[in-house]
Amino acid sequence: MNAPTLRAQLLAWYDKGARDLAWRVGPQANARGVRADPYRVWLSEVMLQQTTVPHATPYFLAFTARWPTVTDLANALDGEVMGAWAGLGYYARARNLMACARAVARDHGGVFPVAEEGLRALPGLGPYTAAAVAAIAFDRPANVVDGNVERVMARLFAVERPLPGAKPELKRLAAGLVREDRPGDWAQALMDLGAMICRPRQPLCERCPVASHCAALATGAPQTYPRKTAKAARPHRHGIAYVLTRGEELALVRRPPRGLLGGMLALPTSDWRTGRWSEAEALAAAPAQADWRSVGEVEHGFTHFTLTLRLLRAEGEADGVIWTPREGLGVLPSVFLKAARAGLANLI
Ligand code: ADE
Repeated sequence: MNAPTLRAQLLAWYDKGARDLAWRVGPQANARGVRADPYRVWLSEVMLQQTTVPHATPYFLAFTARWPTVTDLANALDGEVMGAWAGLGYYARARNLMACARAVARDHGGVFPVAEEGLRALPGLGPYTAAAVAAIAFDRPANVVDGNVERVMARLFAVERPLPGAKPELKRLAAGLVREDRPGDWAQALMDLGAMICRPRQPLCERCPVASHCAALATGAPQTYPRKTAKAARPHRHGIAYVLTRGEELALVRRPPRGLLGGMLALPTSDWRTGRWSEAEALAAAPAQADWRSVGEVEHGFTHFTLTLRLLRAEGEADGVIWTPREGLGVLPSVFLKAARAGLANLI
């Protein structure tokens, strides 16, 4: 591996074809000394940890239009931010986002710390995000390693050890390529390579600027890297979701602050269990005050399990619910938006 040549080739490729992203300062502007706003870099990195660039971009634009600075975000109400986050998933991250924004506003006068250690001390800001903000916003030589960079390293060096055990080795290999020269561009060039060329399933090796260095390509089967240990099957859980309407309004509840989808608005549900709910069993278990009808099922994949919700639908009254107009359902996380839409559609 010739590191100087590899770096020069990848950075030259990035100079020509860097993706134009809403939070990015491109390589030409970066060379003139323009730096990205750390608030925007931090926010984009938190969003991108769980979703793709096309999915995150409209959320990023909406957040920065509504809360242009970290202090504006710190002053927002929790419920407003959780509502704006709906659809991005991993809602604990939205709560950490608020905690971090408030710490920056309160303890740092609204200015992000420059060094990786200072960033690490902020609530909810892990090693990846600290490295990404230090490199991208402050051009510090931080080692920014996410799943994409792990894949690129596993291929460049044909690492035979499977993930997740190979993580420390992949991080070490990535660190060996970081230099004082252009660390922010380097981190983003690797991200672009992982997203556009060194893709998980069908890498475009014929267009890869660093193909001549790639040990995985030399084996003839680059897509088989990174090696992975066999996955355990994802467990499956089952629940009942109640689609209760009152005219044009739908009954929602706020979920308890901790745990999965904590603090988010939701359809009322039963507890989730391992056994499937038959239609008859679900109808027998439903609260007696309404005339429930079974209107199908929806399935949703979370990271650690799959959830099937059997949908029961009725028109009626209920206590302790939040009546929400049908046009306002954008505040629901994806699983409940899916369930509400299916429950309402199946009836008409
Ligand atoms: N994925 C994660 N962070 C990213 C960034 N800053 N730019 C592009 N893709 C990314």
